[in-house]
Amino acid sequence: MTSSHRFDAVIIGSGAAGLSLALRLQADLSVAVVSKRELGEGNTQYAQGGISAVLNAADSVDAHVQDTLKAGAGLCEADIVRLVVERGPGNIHWLLAAGVEFTRDAAATDSNGYHLTREGGHSHRRVIHAADATGRAVAQTLEAQVRARPNVALFEHHTAIDLITAAKLGAADNRCLGAYVLDSRSGEVASFLARFVVIATGGASKVYLYTSNPDVATGDGIAMAWRAGCRVANMEFMQFHPTCLYHPQAKSFLVTEALRGEGARLLLPDGDRFMPRFDQRAELAPRDVVARAIDHEMKRVGSKFVHLDISHRPADFIRTHFPTIHARCLELGIDITREPIPVVPAAHYTCGGVLVDARARTDLPGLYAIGEAAYTGLHGANRMASNSLLECLVFAELAAADIDALAAAWAPPPAVPDWDASRTTEPDEEVVISHNWEELRRFMWDYVGIVRSTKRLQRAKRRLDLLRQEIIENYSNFRVDVNLLELRNLVEVADLIVQSAQRRRESRGLHYTLDFPFQDANQLAPTVLIPDRYRPRGRRWSA
Ligand code: FAD
Ligand code: SIN
Repeated sequence: MTSSHRFDAVIIGSGAAGLSLALRLQADLSVAVVSKRELGEGNTQYAQGGISAVLNAADSVDAHVQDTLKAGAGLCEADIVRLVVERGPGNIHWLLAAGVEFTRDAAATDSNGYHLTREGGHSHRRVIHAADATGRAVAQTLEAQVRARPNVALFEHHTAIDLITAAKLGAADNRCLGAYVLDSRSGEVASFLARFVVIATGGASKVYLYTSNPDVATGDGIAMAWRAGCRVANMEFMQFHPTCLYHPQAKSFLVTEALRGEGARLLLPDGDRFMPRFDQRAELAPRDVVARAIDHEMKRVGSKFVHLDISHRPADFIRTHFPTIHARCLELGIDITREPIPVVPAAHYTCGGVLVDARARTDLPGLYAIGEAAYTGLHGANRMASNSLLECLVFAELAAADIDALAAAWAPPPAVPDWDASRTTEPDEEVVISHNWEELRRFMWDYVGIVRSTKRLQRAKRRLDLLRQEIIENYSNFRVDVNLLELRNLVEVADLIVQSAQRRRESRGLHYTLDFPFQDANQLAPTVLIPDRYRPRGRRWSA
């Protein structure tokens, strides 16, 4: 018999989205936070640049909205953009009240004494930050607060496998009942039943060989929601960050865009500054433009990297504003106060995800999605820098309000069958799993990366179909472990990316294909994929 836990709300994921939701829910709700590794391990922890919000008297909501719409290349949902931007300042004040120590600037009288930096696509200084380690400051503060909450139970080293739905148990009136969760230390699977389930599992950039993301970013929540019958949208828009450190010993180390915001220039190895040839905003053009320009120049001159140079700024300024990058580069023998940094683009952010409405509700009653795992309509075809943490905070706030409002009326779930533990055979040789991981991530990088083509997408799809079959076989026959679960989710998400990319027969924002190199004014709808199990929203959500 497997164990079973019951809560009012189960939040899967403990980044900025999951933890801020746990803190915002009514204190009389019992809440579980399930997290694949330690609580702090996720994209949030590694965020560098900051959080965008209108905090400066010279800035305005309209300007932030316009910049976001422009970066999103015609695919943002304008009402969602406005909703998020309007809630920005309130959420920053919420973080300040929670104790996040943002970088101060005594001279900045028009931003309440906080230093605001600039990043690509922003027409104003509006990115509040904690030096170049904003994510760490936010994550540590939220984690400390959540650990002190008596109504929140924390399950670290627990991996959600799949959602439990009423439909899967044969009920006509579908809703989400909970999730099966693997304790990766004991190997036990338990059912976590809840009135409300929230996917806050972050993005899927590990689907690519080179990424700025930590290992947990395997798109689990997107794959789980898809398997449970939820629509996903805009998965073709995977964002590549232009500047990750190029060094054999530096796995996934980002060099923040704020460096360019403070004057850093992109140079070819011979010192030629190339960005002004691609865009009048030069180094501060949106990410899709900069990443593509770097990719183009690297291929043109046959170089494995380009240089990012901030050494013309005073050494003290560099050390104070970018202490993490300065220290990490120094460890690797690069003194950024005196020499340029070798950088390359790498997969960074998942703009698409589980389709939700303005209350973070998915298609499945009782199931919410927030943070990078969700598609809200904010980012369109290209996320503007530092709008992501903002989206995590705002949609956590919106989901909390909705759950609190529904809580009194929403019935607890019925009992569900135990996890089928009959598959006791040890997983296939580990080498098969790691080979498949490597193969998937490599062909996604080569065929579905910054520059795509119809032929490359077809090749990727053929390989995916084979891999998928093999992985499903493994999943059905062997005892589950985290590697196998992640691979199963990655192949699912890769398939969603390729299918979405094949549908978009134009180039827009982050999706660039050689066969359709121009924008098509008629393709202004998001790419929405509908799963076999999809049922249009029932009456239940309107309770
Ligand atoms: P995450 O913080 O990624 O958290 C996901 C959580 O889900 C983790 O706890 C993970 O363990 C858990 N999880 C995943 N799958 C499962 C499962 N199956 N079961 C249980 N738990 C699971 N954005 C900005 O706005 N500003 C920045 O300056 C910025 N800098 C960045 C720098 C880097 C290097 C990176 C990688 C991203 C950056 N971003 C930035 C993007 C931003 O950090 C993320 O989009 C955001 O933190 C996502 O938060 P989240 O809560 O949705 O997910
Ligand atoms: C960065 O600091 O460059 C990352 C910002 C972001 O991804 O929003």
